[in-house]
Amino acid sequence: MLKVGLVGIGFMGGGHLAKYKQLEKEGFPVELVALCDVDENKFKGKAVEGNLDVGESKYDFSKYRLYKDMDEMLEKEELDYVDIALPTYLHAEAAIKALNAGHHVLCEKPMALNKEQCQSMIDAAKKNNKKLMIGHCLRFEPAYVVLKEYVDNKKLGDVTCAYFYRGGTTPIWSFENWLLKREKSGGAMLDQHIHDVDTISWLFGTPEKVSTLGKIVVEESGYDALSTNYFYKDGKVVNAQDDWTLNGGYGFKMTYRVNFEKGNLIFEGGKVTVHENEGEKFVVDLEKEDGYYKEIKYFANSVMNDTAIEVATPESSMQSVVIVQAEMASADEKGNFKEVL
Ligand SMILES: NC(=O)c1ccc[n+]([C@@H]2O[C@H](COP(=O)([O-])OP(=O)(O)OC[C@H]3O[C@@H](n4cnc5c(N)ncnc54)[C@H](O)[C@@H]3O)[C@@H](O)[C@H]2O)c1
Repeated sequence: MLKVGLVGIGFMGGGHLAKYKQLEKEGFPVELVALCDVDENKFKGKAVEGNLDVGESKYDFSKYRLYKDMDEMLEKEELDYVDIALPTYLHAEAAIKALNAGHHVLCEKPMALNKEQCQSMIDAAKKNNKKLMIGHCLRFEPAYVVLKEYVDNKKLGDVTCAYFYRGGTTPIWSFENWLLKREKSGGAMLDQHIHDVDTISWLFGTPEKVSTLGKIVVEESGYDALSTNYFYKDGKVVNAQDDWTLNGGYGFKMTYRVNFEKGNLIFEGGKVTVHENEGEKFVVDLEKEDGYYKEIKYFANSVMNDTAIEVATPESSMQSVVIVQAEMASADEKGNFKEVL
């Protein structure tokens, strides 16, 4: 039985908690034993409401050992791995601490604020011979896994044009409002749009260059709304857009439209439709479990069986941060091309 400590039980930590409960109920050999959050109010059991539904509205924490301080949790608990759902500016510090204490680490995306922090996390994992995975959940999300299969198996030929979008209401739920502080979250560009960046790099590899227009809408925030063009040698047209200032009850949406030589895939309203140029259109029968569930199960399995992390390697997660950094530099110069180094 794997014993897990979860650090940060805000919006996303609540989501992870719900998945551990589900896995335990299904008899999967993982047990969440300890929770840590600096804010004692979180232990009252009311879930943090974000812009999408990730868990339950209320939790019973009575079966867990509760800590306000991560160091104390690491000292007192016998854990197999630590699951980190802390604000991004704490990812590197917390992950390195847990790795140095001899634990494997599953850490939420984005990996960290910059390449240097990401590299120090990878170095700590290597030094301690521990596993490190970043929760890039779209690599496990059925609608995106289907797309990856079409890109790889070339059933519809090569990609000619691809568009990715995510958008939501302004995140006003976070601890000390860290999400709306540029230096703590990197704005929508690093926090939300990185999902599409990671998908683009997973599907097509690192782009040569990027050109980004970005707008800061909320005072002190990072880029809250943006559009990026990605340049590839074969000339395919790739664009992604994000906006987390869609208020007035908008909630959250994510979509894609990917055109191939012989058809296209459209993801909208939770459904993936395949349009084959020479055939009928059809809706893909997607797997029921979502990316959060599958990512946690994948990581737990790789710890249990000592198998390599292959779906979302820490190096690929670092590369997604590097691409976003190039996008930020481009947006700072009103869309000038930036090479991705
Ligand atoms: N994969 C996804 O789809 C997804 C969605 C939302 C958020 N996230 C990621 O999850 C992470 C957390 O985001 P969130 O929206 O849950 O933020 P949040 O502010 O709701 O939660 C963070 C929690 O960490 C706690 N915390 C802060 N400092 C701490 C410390 N030193 N020790 C212990 N606890 C501390 C806070 O009290 C809070 O409960 C971020 O990296 C974010 O990008 C991922």
